[in-house]
Formats: sequence, C-alpha cells, structure tokens
Amino acid sequence: ATLTPFVDALPVPPVLHAESGKPLHVRMAASEQKLHRDLPPTTLWTYGGTYPGPTIEARSGQPIEVTWENALPTKHFLPIDHAICGAEADKPDVRAIVHLHGAKVPHKDDGFPEDWYVPGVSRRHRYPNAQDAATLWYHDHAMGINRLNMYAGLMGLYLLRDEHEAALGLPSGEQELPLVLADRLLRRDGRLYYPDSGDAKAPWVPEVFGNLTLVNGAVLPRADVQARRYRLRVLNAANGRFYHLRFRDRRPFQVIGSDQGLLASPASMTSLFLAPGERADIVVDFSGADGSTAELMNDALPLMRFAVRQGVVRDESRVPTVLRELPRVTASTASRARELTLDEYSDCIATPMLMLLNGKRWHEPVTETVTLGSTEMWNLVNLTEDTHPIHLHLVRFQILDRRPYDVDEYMEKKTLRYVGPAQEPPPHERGWKDVVQAYPGMVTRIVATFDGYAGRYAWHCHLAEHEANEMMRPFDVVAG
Ligand code: C2O
Ligand code: CU
Repeated sequence: ATLTPFVDALPVPPVLHAESGKPLHVRMAASEQKLHRDLPPTTLWTYGGTYPGPTIEARSGQPIEVTWENALPTKHFLPIDHAICGAEADKPDVRAIVHLHGAKVPHKDDGFPEDWYVPGVSRRHRYPNAQDAATLWYHDHAMGINRLNMYAGLMGLYLLRDEHEAALGLPSGEQELPLVLADRLLRRDGRLYYPDSGDAKAPWVPEVFGNLTLVNGAVLPRADVQARRYRLRVLNAANGRFYHLRFRDRRPFQVIGSDQGLLASPASMTSLFLAPGERADIVVDFSGADGSTAELMNDALPLMRFAVRQGVVRDESRVPTVLRELPRVTASTASRARELTLDEYSDCIATPMLMLLNGKRWHEPVTETVTLGSTEMWNLVNLTEDTHPIHLHLVRFQILDRRPYDVDEYMEKKTLRYVGPAQEPPPHERGWKDVVQAYPGMVTRIVATFDGYAGRYAWHCHLAEHEANEMMRPFDVVAG
C-alpha cells in the first residue's frame, strides 16, 4: 500500500539561537520519530532528539561554541563493513564526530574523520563564523561509518546570517522554510533499512537509493502557505541521490544562492539538479495562486505540496536584481594548477569496487600540500562514468569551467587532450561553492584560495558510499 500524500504538515526543525559566550549543547542519541501519519515510529539517531537536528542560527563575525555530546548506543543498528578503511574490527562499533560543512574553522574544530569519539564522551567545537552568510549544515564524519551515521539521521542545518543579507528584504520569518531532502529505504513497519552486498564480510554497497524521500523528516508533507513569496533553503542531504527539482506546474523560481551564500544576481529557473551535499537558496512566488496547490517534484515524483491559502496578502519582501558583489575568479589568479583524477577500479578478485582520488587511498602520504593564503586551480579529471560531487573542507571556490576530453587517451598515456570547448558554468553555479558536480568525460576546473588556517583537512566525493571506499583524501595547508 502506498502512503497517503500530503496529510502531514511539513515539520520545521527546532531553532537554536547561538550567542557568543554561551555554548550550545547538542546531544546525539537514539530517538523515535513518526515519518508519516500511517507509519509506526522509526528509530533514528539524531542530534538533539529530532531529525533533522535543530537548525543552528549564527551571525557572521560572532564566534560560537557547541558541545557535541555522544550519547548514542554502543551497538550500531546498521551494517558496519569492517573491511572499510577506518572501520576495522578492532575499532569501537559506534563512533561519531561532527563536521560543520562549509565552515572555515581550525583543524581541531573541523570534524576531521579520524577525530571520532565514543558514546559517553563530549567534545566542544568553536566556530569562528568569520565568513559570509550561507546555508551551512552539520553532519557526522566518523571514518568508515559516517555513511551509516548520516543515514541513521545525524545531520542538521546551520544558517549563518549577516547584515548585508538582512538588508536585502528577502522573504523571512514564516516565509523562509528549510527543506532538508534525503531518501531512505523504509520497511512497512517503519524500520529504516540500509542495503548490503550480501557478503557478510564486506557488506558495503557503492550506492544507496531509498524508496521514499523525507522532507525535513516527513514523507510527502504539506506546507500551508500564503499567496506570497517564500524563501526555501534547500539541502540535498541524501547519501547517494541527486535531486532534479521542479514544480509540477513548471512555475519558475529564482535561485538566489548556492553552497556558500548569495549569487551576484538571481537566476530564474524551472528545474535544478542538486547533488548530495549541495545547497540551493531559492525564492518561489505563490502570489496569484491562492486556493490552489503547487507540488515540488523530483522529476516525475512528488516530494511535497505547497497548499496556498485563499485570500490576497500584502507581500513586502523583495528579490533585488543585485544580491551582492561577487567578482568572478579567473584562471590567472591561481599560482598553481593541479591535475587530480577521479578513479574507479573494479577488481573482481580483491574488493568488488574501489574509488579513489588521484589514484591514492586515504592512508597514503599527503600529496596536496598547499601554502596558506595561496590560490590554486584544481583540475578534476573524471575518469569514471559517473558524476561525483566533490567537496573541499576549509575553503570556498568558484567553478571555472568544464571541458570534454579524451578519456581513453588519458587512461593509456596520461595525456590530456580536449575534444571540445570549455563550458562556463550556468548562472546558478557562478557563485561561491563548496561542492562541485564533476561530470563524466569532463575536466572540471575550480579555483580556491586556501586562507584562514593551516592544518590538515579532507576533500572527498560527497556520495557517502564513495567517500567510505575510498574517495577521500587529506590535504595539508602549511604556513608559507
Ligand atoms: Cu559534508 Cu566532508 O562533508
Ligand atoms: Cu563519487
């Protein structure tokens, strides 16, 4: 039987207002949550007792502290693969470490994958918030098992605001809604199910796709809205699913921001591809639609419904045509270019499949050593047949371009021969990013300035199953 759509109100995660000098305390624990009216409660692992966890509201320029308490059970309820790097059988089953995705923070506060700790332990992180307003999010990053911890529910939003953004007059208050999208496999009894390979010794699977998508923790919810503009802070928090977002009636929406905050100007679109880890800040206008409905879709499948109330309301919000000053970076600003491959090996004898960055595993010596304050161009040479959303910790970057090249020739001779012109990113990808979709058959060029802090950070594919095996590498930022 299918679940009746649009009967549950869209949940909005509780908000934690962070203040300097008053540390927040967030507890990770198992909890039960009803994901749909007609489903029994589901056991999840959450921050602060809800999935998604509380939305942390912080202000640019005001540092805050959060104590993250690990009060999880000591046994995992999802299938750990002890053949995966970092999850060996001698490691505790349950380990956790919180990464604030998109934040510029010192190494010790970043949530480095190897900095995990066990139930009964807490850890305090300091977030400087010395960066522009943006839709950040926090999630588990424990080496070898974060795909399971995230899938269990360990994630939440972190909205960083600043005065510039507040002065624009964008829809706010009740007219601003977070939408955390993540698919899950749910059994009829409401239990969460994570697939396995069938091999008890190596249960890892390369991809996980759910049978349902949760929007803020609800299956096919309904948001009752007014006939006016709404700002939607959309996060793709899925382990492996890309969302192709659109409205059923093809109504246009304006993309006003990407991962690292506002674009230079709004981009009007009717559909949008969002990869795991990416965020989109969009404004949709329901004026003139009172008494009707608008469904947000993933291709042909509905995700949720906006039910627009009867009656005309006054809307004083605006979407200015200039959102902020945002100079486009150019190739010439980079003092160094690196060629970095995205690889996939299927070796039927050893592991069933292995994915690597630049042909290297996590534990091999660091190869990307960057001078603090320098600007580099990273040319991501995708040798695989999939799009990989590549994420760098610490920095924001811009996408320079994507250019088709001869993959076979590169595989044989390691020479890069382009077979077509470079393609500039579309307007909605021209802002500051921290995840980039690296397309197959293309070299994707990004430019980042590695400023802020020296130390060791991670870069990885944000498909959680790829990251685990072993599409993640450390990089070092060193004082010059
Ligand atoms: Cu959102 Cu290293 O992750
Ligand atoms: Cu990948």
